[in-house]
Amino acid sequence: MPELGVNIDHVATLREVRGGIEPEPVFAAFICEAAGADGIVVHLREDRRHIKEKDLHILKKTVQKKLNLEMSTSEEIVKIASRLKPDQATLVPERRAELTTEGGLDVVRNFQKIKKTVEKLKKAGIAVSLFIDPEKKQIEASEKTGVEIVELHTGRYSDAKNMQQENKYFLELQRASRYAKNKGLHVFAGHGLNYYNVSRVARIKEVEELNIGYSIICRAVLVGLDRAVKEMKVLLR
Ligand code: PXP
Repeated sequence: MPELGVNIDHVATLREVRGGIEPEPVFAAFICEAAGADGIVVHLREDRRHIKEKDLHILKKTVQKKLNLEMSTSEEIVKIASRLKPDQATLVPERRAELTTEGGLDVVRNFQKIKKTVEKLKKAGIAVSLFIDPEKKQIEASEKTGVEIVELHTGRYSDAKNMQQENKYFLELQRASRYAKNKGLHVFAGHGLNYYNVSRVARIKEVEELNIGYSIICRAVLVGLDRAVKEMKVLLR
């Protein structure tokens, strides 16, 4: 059974709609962990559109299991991460105008920059993961950066418009998971997973952790966060 990392960015998104003080992400993190989440994931974006540095400092002091910080390779953010020392940093591509992280890092093209960032973060004692598309060339380049974890982007699978596409992208994920595992990497996956499409991915035996945000927070609006996390855990099992 893969572990579940719950991304709580969109609790902060809701807070920012009114620019006030609620809902408070740290309370959400507490409920997620109590409901069985194995880790809490937040993305400190360069534009600070949801999670702020203040949130990170509180989460660092209060998260009991794993705090996974999604981040770009920007100098400013790398400095913040190196000081804060989350349990894990996940490097993701970031574009200002995007609604969410679109596609994985191009490790092949940005090899030197990513390798340097991985080295800095590892030196600060942080486990590092690279968020990549499920492709051989990206896995090979990731391994060469010295990283120990890759998170495979499940967007193509999640966005499939019919069963034929879903099968195609599922196979792509399965093959990439095996390939990465055989290279000695830990394999995580995430993006766009929901209560309908998660079970198949949870059955890929090489996948050790799934990171899920949007669909859990959406379900939480209707049934409560505790129940939304518990229901997802049942599906992973
Ligand atoms: N994993 C990574 C690296 C991400 O950037 C995101 C989106 O923030 C997720 C997982 C979760 O994606 P979603 O919110 O679609 O579940």
